[in-house]
Amino acid sequence: MIRMVLDTEIRKGQINKNIYGHFSEHLGRCIYGGIWVGKDSPIPNTDGIRNDVIEALKALKIPVLRWPGGCFADEYHWMDGIGPYEDRPSMINTHWGGVIENNHFGTHEFFRLCELIGAEPYICGNVGSGTVQEMQQWVEYITFDGKSPMADLRRANGREEPWKLKYFGVGNENWGCGGNMRPEYYADEYRRYATYVRNFGENRIYKIACGANAGDYRWTEVLMREAGNMMDGLSLHYYTVPGEWHSKGSAVDFDEGKWFDTLKKTLHMEELVTRHSAIMDQYDPEKRVGLIVDEWGTWYDVEPGTNPGFLYQQNTLRDALVAGINLNIFNNHCDRVKMANIAQTINVLQSVILTEGDRIVLTPTYHVFDMYKVHQDAELLSMYVENAEYRFGDEAIPQVSASASIDSEDRIHISICNLNHEDGAEIDCLVRDRENADVSGSILTAPVMNAHNTFDAPETIKPEAFSGASLKDSRLRVSLPPMSVVVLTIG
Ligand code: AHR
Repeated sequence: MIRMVLDTEIRKGQINKNIYGHFSEHLGRCIYGGIWVGKDSPIPNTDGIRNDVIEALKALKIPVLRWPGGCFADEYHWMDGIGPYEDRPSMINTHWGGVIENNHFGTHEFFRLCELIGAEPYICGNVGSGTVQEMQQWVEYITFDGKSPMADLRRANGREEPWKLKYFGVGNENWGCGGNMRPEYYADEYRRYATYVRNFGENRIYKIACGANAGDYRWTEVLMREAGNMMDGLSLHYYTVPGEWHSKGSAVDFDEGKWFDTLKKTLHMEELVTRHSAIMDQYDPEKRVGLIVDEWGTWYDVEPGTNPGFLYQQNTLRDALVAGINLNIFNNHCDRVKMANIAQTINVLQSVILTEGDRIVLTPTYHVFDMYKVHQDAELLSMYVENAEYRFGDEAIPQVSASASIDSEDRIHISICNLNHEDGAEIDCLVRDRENADVSGSILTAPVMNAHNTFDAPETIKPEAFSGASLKDSRLRVSLPPMSVVVLTIG
């Protein structure tokens, strides 16, 4: 029996809805084919953007979308992606598969996408191979209302009003593909570039500095020390990579060992967030600077027969657990984690959507985001968990992952994942201040750990109503099947 105590009196701050953010890069078939098909495509579209994708992403209530990369961002020159399509130069996407990038999806198309799906745009600027002037001009082009060369250029390209742009990243992975810099050097570059990322008119930019690769705590230390007062957010990238980088294994064909290893590595996010936050606390005890986990998710070997540079992978129940665990961790650290962006929205790494021609599939990860969206902007509740162990071989990890929140209508939502691949979990949770109330819920599970949706069988795994929970005399009893993600609503 796993015991929990949920205290509705102890509220631990707002779960920023941006924790449910996404990331879309010019990589493989994420943008081209996944989002953008062009205005003349036979695939139904609005201004070149797939209608089926708009509908699916809107339903998910994606709060924020990061673009254009990733590693692509530090090779992207935004002026190539504006103006008449026939005049936009083609370039080689050197980082991702060496394919031709025709720049048909650029600034105007990105803002249109965000408008159509109701997401805040989050643009990542080019520090690695771009200039300060180029970054300054991009912000001016997007946000300046008055008369200026860039605002006039925007108008000449058909957009009279400036857009609102809140989130701007000053470079991506500048410790690696973004220029192989040392933290001391990048901190100075950040200070220089960020100076020219200006607030025009009423537009206020939340500047995000490139943060650490996984457990590189020195990077966070140096950045906070040297540039903390000039940033609003500091990023963190951590991918769940089972096995080793050179043999990560298949997204679909895996055994219990790989299941366990994947979930164990996902739980490492807890340590990363805790330790990076502790360093940030030393320089920013008021928690003004947000920790922005703007790349996370699973990374497996690509699907057989696909371009290795396209990072296309299937998505199973295992990915649903990875999503559920990570989102619980971010919720529970909402005092510092102000945004997170899963990599990547469509057809790349841990996607919520897969497409093939005019067909579309919603993945198990999509369903987890859909179930968890009740936490967006709700208040985190204090929850004590006396966990059981999930043992495999001579290793052990906690059996369940959970988080709970209360929304503006006083409804409590609890998300719980049972990581164990063969044992169910019995939970006895004391809910302070709720004696008897209706409990409803949904569950995502399947009889096999690699259950996934395909274009021919798109509904193999999808959420079902959950009837395994009841609340009586303040005791919430939950019976979780093995390998499951459950979201409960009380009240
Ligand atoms: O998401 C794929 C890549 O992973 C991104 O381009 C890069 O930032 C990271 O290394």
